[in-house]
Amino acid sequence: MRKILVTSALPYANAPLHIGHIVEYTQTDIWARFQKMRGNQCWYICADDSHGTPIMLHARQKGITPEELIVAMSEEHQADFRDFRIGFDNYHSTHSDENRELASLIFERNLAAGHISSRNIIQAYDPEEKMFLPDRFIKGECPKCGAKDQYGDNCEVCGATYSPTELKNSYSVVSGAKPVEKESEHFFFKLADFENMLKEWTRSGHLQPEVANKLDEWFEAGLREWDISRDAPYFGFEIPGHPGKYFYVWMDAPIGYMASFKNFCNKQGLDFDEYWAEDSDTELYHFIGKDIIYFHALFWPAMLDGAGFRKPTTIHAHGFLTVNGQKMSKSRGSFIQARTYLDHLNPEYLRYYFAAKLGSGVDDIDLNLEDFALRVNSDLVGKVVNIASRCAGFINKRFDGKLSDELSEPELFQQFTDASEAIAEHYEKRKFSRAVREIMAFADKANQYIDEKQPWVVAKEEGREQELQDICSMGINLFKVLITWLRPILPGTAGDAEAFLNLAPLQWDDACTPLLSHQINKFKPLMTRVDTKKIEAMLEASKEDMKAKPHKTAVPAKTEKEEAPTIAFEDFAKVDLRVARIVKAQAVEGADKLLQLTVDLDGETRNIFAGIKAAYDPADLEGRLTVVAANLAPRKMRFGVSEGMVLAAGPGGKDIFLLNPDEGAQPGMKIK
Ligand code: 2FM
Ligand code: ZN
Repeated sequence: MRKILVTSALPYANAPLHIGHIVEYTQTDIWARFQKMRGNQCWYICADDSHGTPIMLHARQKGITPEELIVAMSEEHQADFRDFRIGFDNYHSTHSDENRELASLIFERNLAAGHISSRNIIQAYDPEEKMFLPDRFIKGECPKCGAKDQYGDNCEVCGATYSPTELKNSYSVVSGAKPVEKESEHFFFKLADFENMLKEWTRSGHLQPEVANKLDEWFEAGLREWDISRDAPYFGFEIPGHPGKYFYVWMDAPIGYMASFKNFCNKQGLDFDEYWAEDSDTELYHFIGKDIIYFHALFWPAMLDGAGFRKPTTIHAHGFLTVNGQKMSKSRGSFIQARTYLDHLNPEYLRYYFAAKLGSGVDDIDLNLEDFALRVNSDLVGKVVNIASRCAGFINKRFDGKLSDELSEPELFQQFTDASEAIAEHYEKRKFSRAVREIMAFADKANQYIDEKQPWVVAKEEGREQELQDICSMGINLFKVLITWLRPILPGTAGDAEAFLNLAPLQWDDACTPLLSHQINKFKPLMTRVDTKKIEAMLEASKEDMKAKPHKTAVPAKTEKEEAPTIAFEDFAKVDLRVARIVKAQAVEGADKLLQLTVDLDGETRNIFAGIKAAYDPADLEGRLTVVAANLAPRKMRFGVSEGMVLAAGPGGKDIFLLNPDEGAQPGMKIK
């Protein structure tokens, strides 16, 4: 029996889950359920990621303590997970005694081994709030192009990157005060100490090939020391022996995997060391999104190595979720929170759809809502569940729920069960889409069998009772194989099927054992069709969610009123403001915050780069009118020449709103 520990990334205790999160938890849950069905000992462990400045400030904004916030958030997360049937064996928090002890231990062991250094660094400091400011909590004017309200690390308008100290007229997003520079001592993890180990480890089958290639780029760029401490005030763990210094959230977050498991071991009487000792022969798998590979494939194995713990067996990264081919969009209602989905649709639909799309690589997956409805209705309702409903009625009504005492078509049954190991192999390798494809090919076969045998005709003819019982028993047996194979993906439907089939929870090998002379129960519909009206309602509700709590997770905006010096009318009149129609909008490769707009000014086409990517999906913009400063000198940027500027209002980031003239306006019109 294999002994397996499996984790999903720990969600931040700062915001509700959305359906993008659900991809990863579904993927991990399917794999863990599959391992359990195979008879392996498999523990699926998770926790809330509860530390850091955003959580501290969010709690402050709500007028509650961080402890209160993380408790409420954890309850919300766990309710969502439960309702999506994510079957964690333990769910804990990084703000726990176990995590405090383990984080201290890992720090101290690395320190003793010489892998941690300390030195003074200078950082931006908010003198009013008396706190150091992470880059995203500082804004100001871009030192290159002068654009206002740019974050402390890079400019959304010209794409320049810089350090927060270079910003002009900078202010703290927390208080509005001007940051000052202040020196303090920080601790650094010497990642480069582990370069040889990491190079060897990343090429030894612990990572997907495309991830290992990415790591080569990072090795080439050089492994830099990692700042693992933060100064008070900070919501986290104080570093032992260093009052006022805290572990950076990303230092104790992965240790949360261990801490949650430790908490589980204490409750269950399991041996923690068996799983985490350096020479452990148990297996450890981390499922993560591709955006956090650096932390999991470099820092994490190095920290474990430096502290004398085992390293992961495999890190499995997945891609992002798009909805209808695009990044989830608030305005289209496709930024769907987990709870909003659950309020409208059956979780098993989404689990199935994700499984049907998930492979073993890091490709993004798309939830196309039309395809979603078609696929669930055709595969699950039309094929799988239909087999049971076509046969159950006859068995129940005509044979008191009793199946035949032998299989009438043993070869057909054998064809099914012969495929069981190959399907298991697809699950094992996380090729779920492949498993689903093969299972559905067998569902087609089972339906063909019933179509050919026409039990509804046989039922009407006298003297064909045995034949009728045999056909329907065969159908039920084929259904049982299919639902066994689908059980990791559809735990709820499989549970209902087990009740109908009068069976204990199905194990993988049960697929191969036919039900003979077996008593089944009354059949209740196992799944209903996706109602497209409910999809519409979910999208509408998602739009409302965004309107109702647009700042639910945002940190406080700048409080000071922005005031610019007075200018003469002649100066203002120099600006040629025009109505423009956005004819094309697209993301800019390599730029996190920019969109490239092609605008029409009554026949004249301009190329404009705008730092509005966080606020808009390109498709929402195409066809829209806006206002452009048309006589701005063309500016050469890293990505091309920008020939003007679009006008927008708002503090920035997601909260920026393009000016939008009424439809009566025409491209080229001058603003008066
Ligand atoms: O990216 C995130 O959402 C992090 N909260 C994931 C942490 S995973 C692990 F390291 F704890
Ligand atoms: Zn700039």
